Amino acid sequence: MDRKTFIKSCGMACIGGGAIVAFLQSCGVSKTITGAISDSNLLVALSDFETKAGNEIHYKKYVVVNNDTLKFPICVYRHDANQYTALWMQCTHQGAELQVFGDKLQCPAHGSEFNNKGEVTNSPANQNLRSFPIIIENNQLKISLKAV
Ligand code: FES
Repeated sequence: MDRKTFIKSCGMACIGGGAIVAFLQSCGVSKTITGAISDSNLLVALSDFETKAGNEIHYKKYVVVNNDTLKFPICVYRHDANQYTALWMQCTHQGAELQVFGDKLQCPAHGSEFNNKGEVTNSPANQNLRSFPIIIENNQLKISLKAV
């Protein structure tokens, strides 16, 4: 392969690589959403858990819900069609914001971990996460924020 052909090949490879990255990003499923608040309830549409692959519907394990009026996001786990858990993403140790990794929430500050029901699974935290009552109504979750 001469120099000109080599450079041309590298250029095509770069363009192809860029196209693949753009394609993968467009396929990415965002798990962070903004939820509206109405009458002290954070509202999350059940369809926010859906992802579609062709004609099939799959469900995300969780979504992280933000609202500008909340100091921390709320992670909502979907256990099945009728069971959800809404967890305040503030560590019960010293108050850092938690990060979600699949079925667990981890604290970047000192390493505490919590399961998808908000129970402590790794210290130094020794209290479970705050959770919120949920009502399913009209194809949406109404997460009661009273006394946040
Ligand atoms: S603030 Fe989370 S483990 Fe310390």
